[in-house]
Amino acid sequence: MIDRKVVTLNGCDLVDDVRSPGSPTPRRLVMLSQEQNDLLTRVGPGTPGGEMLRRYWLPIALVQELPPQEGGDPPAPVPLRILGEDLVLFRDQQGRPGLIGIHCAHRGADLSYGRVEDGGLRCLYHGWLYDVHGRCLEQPGEPAGSTFYERVRQPSYACREAAGVFFACFGPGEPPLLPDYELFHVPDEHRWIHKYYHECSYLQGNEGNLDPTHPFFLHRFLSGSRSLQSRVPINDQRRTPAYDTRVHAPRVHAEEMPFGVRMYAFYDTSPEWTDVRTSCFVMPLTCAVGGGPVPPGDGYLMNWHVPIDDTHHWRFSMAFKRTGPIDRAHARERASITTADYRFPRNPNNRYLQDREEQKTDTFSGMGPIFVVHDSYATETAGPIQDRTREHLGAVDRGVSLERRMLLHAIRDVQEGRDPPHVMRRPEDNVQLEGLGVTEHRIPAGLTWPQYRREWAGDLAAR
Ligand code: FES
Ligand SMILES: [Fe+2]
Repeated sequence: MIDRKVVTLNGCDLVDDVRSPGSPTPRRLVMLSQEQNDLLTRVGPGTPGGEMLRRYWLPIALVQELPPQEGGDPPAPVPLRILGEDLVLFRDQQGRPGLIGIHCAHRGADLSYGRVEDGGLRCLYHGWLYDVHGRCLEQPGEPAGSTFYERVRQPSYACREAAGVFFACFGPGEPPLLPDYELFHVPDEHRWIHKYYHECSYLQGNEGNLDPTHPFFLHRFLSGSRSLQSRVPINDQRRTPAYDTRVHAPRVHAEEMPFGVRMYAFYDTSPEWTDVRTSCFVMPLTCAVGGGPVPPGDGYLMNWHVPIDDTHHWRFSMAFKRTGPIDRAHARERASITTADYRFPRNPNNRYLQDREEQKTDTFSGMGPIFVVHDSYATETAGPIQDRTREHLGAVDRGVSLERRMLLHAIRDVQEGRDPPHVMRRPEDNVQLEGLGVTEHRIPAGLTWPQYRREWAGDLAAR
């Protein structure tokens, strides 16, 4: 029997596996209090968790939603809700993006209906005009010579484009550097991006990425599956398709990194070898995982789970391939699974169109062949905000517990006036990304985690 010792550190209950004293695996957070769950999931202005998230650059929209104008009219402004704030994203006539509060500072009309003209966005109601920084440029109707406009400002946030995505930073003061992720460095055609609407807290969406065992149940195709044969075969050619967690429990380890957490899953597939996959949690709401339209080992997928509010979020998926263009057929197939407004036709309102006949012969879930649909079922049905006071994390959930511990500590950092981990302000610091990546290795059976880390150190660091 495993003897467990509970330790309390900075208000977090942690547990040590006493059976393996001295193990480099960090202590596990076993259960959250209601207060801790609230800290991690409440994201609005002024909440401790929300203030922590506002220290980072977050994806807010795809560039294709507000494309650069090439002659002709400026694109229509885009209404957005992010971190519980209602905003409008627009480009001025010079093509510069601006992210400002959606409700006009005059009497609150919705600026996303406004006109892009005269160097800014003009409200339809009385014609006040705002630039991309939220400055009020004109107040028609005020007396001649009035300087009232100089004292009015619309809330505005730093906003920039990278890799086909608009990123914004909602924090006070000068925003930090945008982390120098590998996917920013490949040509556009080597990259694939999309976004998906989810009806649950960002945290449970992201924690679905930190789970190395669910694919063998949730995403399983039954033998002779029709759907599997019809899929564009990229990621289904994994090395461990027949792995069965009912027979072999994977060995899971997690370690803290400057950017977040690196997770290791050891699948003891045969008496001769073990397959090892690594993936990463990246502060504060991103994971780097295998998958997307990229063959294993040739790039990876980054999933950003960005809160719309406490109980809804966008998942921005960005995949890149190091050695060449993304397979367009596969990318199209993946993009086509959502409606034009990035929602799933399979959703909680229709019980994900689960088909019990399909479940007998084709897929384990009965929800079609698309993994992100399965994931949305798994995370959304835990509730708008999962009650983490009632869950029971096991040994395979080490990544989840370490992620929560880092987030709770990051909240405390911000409360005490420090930058949290992975907020970088000096160019020379923007090199903390060593070790951020996804790897797959087949190693001789019996190799321990420390031995693996030592022998593959070069490869793990380079990715
Ligand atoms: S409400 Fe916008 S100008 Fe009056
Ligand atoms: Fe999944």
